[in-house]
Amino acid sequence: MFATALKSNQTIESIPKDLFNAIETLKKELNAIILAHYYQEPDIQDIADYIGDSLGLSQKAASTDADVIVFAGVHFMAETAKILNPNKLVLLPDLEAGCSLADSCPPEEFAKFKAAHPDHLVVSYINCSAGIKALSDIICTSSNSVKIVNQIPRDQRIIFAPDKNLGRYVMEQTGRDLVLWQGTCMVHEIFSEKKIVQLQVQHPEAEVIAHPECETSILRHANYIGSTTALLKYCQESTSPEFIVATESGILHQMEKQAPNKTFIPAPPEGNCACNECPHMRLNTLEKLYLSMKNRTPEITMPEDIRVAALKPIQKMLEISAR
Ligand code: 13P
Ligand code: SF4
Repeated sequence: MFATALKSNQTIESIPKDLFNAIETLKKELNAIILAHYYQEPDIQDIADYIGDSLGLSQKAASTDADVIVFAGVHFMAETAKILNPNKLVLLPDLEAGCSLADSCPPEEFAKFKAAHPDHLVVSYINCSAGIKALSDIICTSSNSVKIVNQIPRDQRIIFAPDKNLGRYVMEQTGRDLVLWQGTCMVHEIFSEKKIVQLQVQHPEAEVIAHPECETSILRHANYIGSTTALLKYCQESTSPEFIVATESGILHQMEKQAPNKTFIPAPPEGNCACNECPHMRLNTLEKLYLSMKNRTPEITMPEDIRVAALKPIQKMLEISAR
């Protein structure tokens, strides 16, 4: 399992008051780039050199000439950066920042599932471990999954893993029959359909926008469905003054920055919890980001044979996305 980033001997005294400045200084010293996902806390988004969705982040990781990549996201994202950059130091501020969706698909079980479906091509959502990527033919993200499946010949049978909700959405959009691994994201499966409908009644001008990791019961109320970057773009372009946002609530920071005159309402979860915040993403903090750069750890590593096998399907995705 992963080790934690903040060891008990790393006391609060060793953290400077002006973290923003200290991080900027370390960035220059290390020739580092900070890549952040939209689900990171606002301070991290504000200090990042690049903020994006999973596709944008992997494209940036593939093209950067920095020596060190500091990945403010979750493990599978930093792992993808390392697969693309074996000779760079890739840091993840908290190695415990995993993903329930990636965890729902262990490579040993998936290898059996794949063996039970011979003649199937494996398309895997990027939210999976390097071990699953190594067993896949093409990787996709939420922004290119439909495009990727559409370019596969129609008579080719396909396994889609690990997200059954995204898989179902791709089936609807492409009219294809996919064999789905039954994984889900713990954040996107908790939205309350009833509360969203109540919000629509209270805010008749609001549009519902949703990430395709949401369940069908939520997606059927959506005026627009897309990846985090696509949702952000939609909010800027739509004439609607209000949005009910069915994805991790961290993205509201960018939405409010980019469209300050509009109102963004986070879609409520079933219970009275903050379950629309990803507990894995939120393990990263500005303090841990600083410490990871100062100590050049925790570093992402993996066996070379897995890295090489995982690289091919990622490269295929990047090639198709560039067309
Ligand atoms: P995107 O970044 O592709 O929108 O996916 C969201 C997500 O769940 C990342 O963990
Ligand atoms: Fe994984 Fe869901 Fe968190 Fe994204 S939001 S990192 S899919 S648990």
